[in-house]
Amino acid sequence: MSDEKSRYQPDTESVTLGHEAANHLGSLKPPIYETSTFVFETAEEGKRFFQQAYASSAVVGDEDVGYIYSRLDSPNLAPAEARLAAWEEAEDAAIFTSGMGAITSVLLTFLRPGDLVLYSMPTYGGTSTLMKGLLSEFGVITRPFRSGASIEDLDELVGDEDLTMVYVETPANPTNELFDIATAAELADRHEARVVVDNTFLSPVWQKPLVHGADLSLHSATKYLGGHSDLTAGAVCGGGLDIERLRQTRYEIGTTPSPSTGWLLGRSLETLRLRVTQQTNNATRIAAFLQEHEKVSKVNYLGLLEPGEAGFEIYKRQCLGPGAMVSFHIIGGEPECFAFLDALEIVRLATSLGGTESLACHPWTMSPPTVPDADKHSIGVTPALIRLSVGIEDVSDLVTDLDRALSRV
Ligand SMILES: Cc1ncc(COP(=O)(O)O)c(C=O)c1O
Repeated sequence: MSDEKSRYQPDTESVTLGHEAANHLGSLKPPIYETSTFVFETAEEGKRFFQQAYASSAVVGDEDVGYIYSRLDSPNLAPAEARLAAWEEAEDAAIFTSGMGAITSVLLTFLRPGDLVLYSMPTYGGTSTLMKGLLSEFGVITRPFRSGASIEDLDELVGDEDLTMVYVETPANPTNELFDIATAAELADRHEARVVVDNTFLSPVWQKPLVHGADLSLHSATKYLGGHSDLTAGAVCGGGLDIERLRQTRYEIGTTPSPSTGWLLGRSLETLRLRVTQQTNNATRIAAFLQEHEKVSKVNYLGLLEPGEAGFEIYKRQCLGPGAMVSFHIIGGEPECFAFLDALEIVRLATSLGGTESLACHPWTMSPPTVPDADKHSIGVTPALIRLSVGIEDVSDLVTDLDRALSRV
């Protein structure tokens, strides 16, 4: 519910935006309002707050809007939302209970039975399961496309259907395949559809989808935005009216994060660039080490893309840095990968990504069992693939750990 707009660089804004000390007893940092409900001073005020909460901001104007109930909104959401909007160069942002909560809220808000959504593959397993399963059961037509698809390929996929949304995850989990957001935007323009980009993997430090024509940029904020593997949240950034509609959905279906989650996320955004820069520097060194290793057959890392390779031109145009997600194929298969994973000491064996600590996982066996093996093969996920989320630790320690674990393969 913050009206504050950014005026400075995101690194500056993410330290203070969305919090006015004078409104909180002079507290330098936002206090946590761990309450489910708020007391109205008068019945008249309660009536006004309800009218404002359910009216559009155009109707409410500059009036002082009050808090009612923490499922609707709470003071701890505003700092994170304002700071994230600054990072994404968006008019506004809304935060949610989880990345899937954000994605579901977007799909429920902007799609109706009979609408067509095209979605990129690979995409996070939870997202593709939702697209193919529940969303289809509600009558939405969902069609996947591969990252190499041209605008003509996409137009052909649309056929006579009513294209309402192009959903793009780029870089894609777990192989780092890229899709050109500008191509998605051109297609969407032809059909008056929306482009939604899952920007989880690079974070707004390295990619700003709205600048390339996306309407909405969303995140599993559980990852880099939260950055410490101690919260579960999601976020969507975009135009003011779209975010307003999303807030209404959030009220209705209850995908609102708790006050303490909002607070933690606002706090974490203060160090976003510091963390992501260190993680990226470490990942660059690790990717180079893995590429030279005799037990590794292939490394998927944006920083290793060469001219002429798929994705190189998109990377140059669209990304500001290569990020800290690395996936690689160990020579062999599941037994070799398990031997490697079980031998790691510093790098922890866990799913999720984007935290200060390095994590490794085996996407073939550690993803929703609803994704068929054939689908995994078709997107480059094989039994020999390892995914690494590189943390902020000392990089030579990390290389030593990886080298030692590879020697046990
Ligand atoms: C790219 C991507 N998008 C969305 C999600 C879902 O986010 P969450 O787990 O916060 O619901 C994930 C989770 O791993 C992800 O990797």
